[in-house]
Amino acid sequence: MSYYITTPIYYVNAEPHLGHAYSTIAADILARHMRQRGEDVFFLTGTDEHGEPVAQAAEKLGLEPRELADRNAPHFRELMPRINASNDFFIRTTDPEHEAKVREIVQRVHDYGHVYEGSYEGWYCPRCADFKTESELGEGNTCPIHKIPVERKREENWFFRLSAFQEQLERLYAERPDFVRPAARYNEALSFIEGGLEDVSLSRPKLTWGVELPWDPSQVIYVWFDALLNYVTALSYARDGEDLTERFWPAFHIIGKDILKFHAVYWPAFLLAAGYEVPRRMFIHGFLLMEGHKMSKSLGNVLDPFEVIDRFGADALRYYCFREVPFGRDGSVSAAGFEARYETELANEYGNLASRTLAMVGQFRDGVVPDAAPDPALLEGADGLAGLDEAVRDLLDRAELTQALEQIWARVRRLNRYVEETRPWDLAKQEADQGGAGDRLDAVLYSLAEGLRVLALLLHAYIPEAGDRLLDALAEPDRGLAAFGSRAGGQRVGELPPLFPKIEAAPAA
Ligand code: MSP
Repeated sequence: MSYYITTPIYYVNAEPHLGHAYSTIAADILARHMRQRGEDVFFLTGTDEHGEPVAQAAEKLGLEPRELADRNAPHFRELMPRINASNDFFIRTTDPEHEAKVREIVQRVHDYGHVYEGSYEGWYCPRCADFKTESELGEGNTCPIHKIPVERKREENWFFRLSAFQEQLERLYAERPDFVRPAARYNEALSFIEGGLEDVSLSRPKLTWGVELPWDPSQVIYVWFDALLNYVTALSYARDGEDLTERFWPAFHIIGKDILKFHAVYWPAFLLAAGYEVPRRMFIHGFLLMEGHKMSKSLGNVLDPFEVIDRFGADALRYYCFREVPFGRDGSVSAAGFEARYETELANEYGNLASRTLAMVGQFRDGVVPDAAPDPALLEGADGLAGLDEAVRDLLDRAELTQALEQIWARVRRLNRYVEETRPWDLAKQEADQGGAGDRLDAVLYSLAEGLRVLALLLHAYIPEAGDRLLDALAEPDRGLAAFGSRAGGQRVGELPPLFPKIEAAPAA
């Protein structure tokens, strides 16, 4: 089956921060997991370069918007390999192919009769590029997200007849209760729709920079429609001479809660207006907070993902984000919390389990995993290995990244307990005393190596670098998911330097 997954495209008004890495890593974990399942995957990310958020930031720096976009877009592009994102394409909304396709689609929406000319009067946040209703405003007419005063605007615009899609959207939500997840976000979007939809601006006066409206060059396309359309335009030119739309559309979107309305309300309506299928589904994540506030450039409380990766590696960052903060909810991150999990969980629980297992196979069986049956004791119980891969598949089908990781981690702990319970070093001593190889030690070492292999495969989507190193050491060439006991012993294991080595103390700030 095809699986098309997207991230929001990032504004190039500033440098990337951990909040951006977060959306991308979430999508990447799902993309990698689905590839492991043999699905036909396409994973898209990129940058949103038009509109006021970028134009205003450029003006402050005395630059043309294009210059700022050209300066910052590469930082987002470079972020992707640094966080080990396996995206199949990186779109920039200034790509001429994107712009041409946007004009074509918007023209179609016009020709189908879904637009009209009118005037807009109301509140506008230039950082969100969003027209706010009174009920969306924060205290003292401010933007609740950016905490800046909103602007009173009166403009001549072209409008998209969103109100005409009221019934169709209500039907969509009734028919597809999992269209938007988690359920709280579904309810939020649905109540926005049920509150009565008003038409929305499709264009802005040309003062700001963007894609010209085909039938009225005095206007540019409202940046949100330009941006949302990236999800379909990319498929038309990501591969030379090939249009991937048929193969991959509709998409599964990963987005943050601040952009719910655009994705869950405007976007399906606009797709219907243009004659496309609505998205397959969307998962809405919460915010990473620092000291209780959303991490954002404008609030100046950002954690620089590049710095974290330089010190701890991409795996550690990928792991931490989804272990610390339940995916879908807001949660705080901190350097101290990060270091604690790195040491206790990655280095001690997982890293040591891997080193110990390989060392014991080396020491007691000359580096060859014994061929034995899996220990039934490890299959049983709430944290048993039986059915683990199905449970993880099921959770990741619903984008439950944290719950799936919790399930896997419970088994990492289970295997550590198993080492303590079985005490292979005592079994080895008994063997030496009695002479000859004991079946019990064979079974224990096989079960440990096999359990570790199964866990490394399941964790591969989350921590691919450590996964490759460990699986190579376990002489496992495949990367597909596997059930416990599905591979026999007999293979020779290799060397494994610490998966998560001790990190020097942070340099003084
Ligand atoms: N350009 C628009 C999206 C257009 S999609 C068609 C945009 N860009 S953004 O750069 O401001 O934000 C992109 C994504 O990063 C959003 O999903 C947002 O929720 C996410 N994050 C930005 N800061 C964040 C945190 N502190 N925590 C988690 N994610 C946050 O909106």
